[in-house]
Amino acid sequence: MTTYHGEPHDFTDKSAGYERLAAQLRGLLAGESDPIANAANTAALLFDALPDLNWAGFYFLRGGELVVGPFQGKPACVRIALGRGVCGTAAAKRETLIVPDVNAFPGHIACDGASQSEVVVPLLAAQRLAGVLDLDSPRLARFDAVDARGLERLAELFVQASRLEQLL
Ligand code: SME
Repeated sequence: MTTYHGEPHDFTDKSAGYERLAAQLRGLLAGESDPIANAANTAALLFDALPDLNWAGFYFLRGGELVVGPFQGKPACVRIALGRGVCGTAAAKRETLIVPDVNAFPGHIACDGASQSEVVVPLLAAQRLAGVLDLDSPRLARFDAVDARGLERLAELFVQASRLEQLL
C-alpha cells in the first residue's frame, strides 16, 4: 500500500464526498483480501474522514451473534444478540438503520455515553449476513439518507474486497 495521506475531506456536497471516499477506500483495499486488515483500515479511514463521529467499526456474525471487530473509538460491548440494540436490529432485518436519537430507540445498547445518533449498515456477502458496519455520533440526527447510501456503497466495497469466510 502507498502511504495514506489524511487529505482534508470535504463533505460540503455529501454525495461527492462519499464518492471521493469510495475511491480512497478502493485504493486502500486494492490487492488485499484479509478481512481483519481490511476492516481495520476501513474503520480508520471512516473515522478519519467523516466529521462528528465518536465510534466507527465492525461487528461480525460469529456463532450466531455479533462480535465486535476492528473499530476506532472507545472500547465497546463485545457481543450483541441478533435482534438486540441498533446493531442487532439492523442485522436481523438486513436493513440499514438510521437512528436520529439513540435515547429514543428502545433497547439501544449504550457503549459510549457520548453517542447521540447512530447508523448501522448490514454486511451481506452472497446474500448471507456477515456482520454490520456501525457509526456513532455525539450529534443528534447526524446521519441522513445520503450517509446511508454512501456507507452502503463503502460497506459493499469492503465486502467485495475481503474474504469474510475466514472469520467463521
Ligand atoms: N449502540 C449499539 C451498540 C454498539 S456501539 O454503539 C459501538 C447498539 O445499540 O447496537
